[in-house]
Amino acid sequence: MYLGAPLEIFTKYGLSGASRWGHVLAGITWIGLLYYFNFVQVPAFAQMSPEARAEAMDKLAWRALWWFRWSAAITAATGLLILGFNEQYKNSYFKSAPGISIATGILLALTMLGNVWSIIWPKQRVVIGNARATAAGGTADPAAPAAARRAALASRQNVIFSFPMLLFMVGTSHFFNDSRHFKVLPSGGERGVYWIIAIVIWLVFELNAVGVIGGTDPGPLKWPYETHRNAIITGVALAVVYYALWEIILRV
Ligand code: HEM
Repeated sequence: MYLGAPLEIFTKYGLSGASRWGHVLAGITWIGLLYYFNFVQVPAFAQMSPEARAEAMDKLAWRALWWFRWSAAITAATGLLILGFNEQYKNSYFKSAPGISIATGILLALTMLGNVWSIIWPKQRVVIGNARATAAGGTADPAAPAAARRAALASRQNVIFSFPMLLFMVGTSHFFNDSRHFKVLPSGGERGVYWIIAIVIWLVFELNAVGVIGGTDPGPLKWPYETHRNAIITGVALAVVYYALWEIILRV
């Protein structure tokens, strides 16, 4: 990923630092709005009258979604810039403990970005379009309830992924790089075991959230998504499980 000598002028003038700064600014905007939607807006909308809710969707949710999806795109772009502007990321970096940490964080974050742009935003457009049409006296869109459900599942899955994702974003330079605690260069076998377990966990969650596993109707598999409390509990548990993988497989 290291872009090499031609870009040294940029590293000299601090674009590496600038991308890290921009990355955290965009990242907190994205994840802050994700938590606002899940912890504040959804419960508040459930208590509003249909008229008040339609107006709030039109004036408030619409704006929030603009900042949400563009801050998500900028977070990913600046994150990739950090990778490009730093010499440390070349060669065998992704075999080292910090490399494995940031690769896991990026896997979760890019999945979240995909959920925003391919599910949450298109489905919310249907939901808000329906609210606007019915408020103006038009007929209800029969696709709206299913769209709302799919958006909710993907949004709560993003809450769940955000907990371990931030553990890895922050941990890469602050604790998973501690050579007294974690192996600087784990063996190929250790890396293999780590990645198989980490990827299976990630895949099962994502397939469950998009309905490939178990459909989208409520059921035992959908427990993590039914309330924001369940999503928070699942997110913390998932972060603990991922951290346990490090303690069991990658510890010195
Ligand atoms: C979408 C794809 C993303 C990519 C490609 C990405 C990439 C990166 C990279 C390469 C680093 C530097 C790691 C290091 O060596 O210290 C980093 C750090 C970080 N990222 Fe991300 N990231 C992404 C998403 C996010 C999101 C959604 C957040 C949410 C707030 C976030 C927050 C952070 C934070 C707080 C740091 C630590 C900064 C530091 O310790 O100096 N990232 N990210």
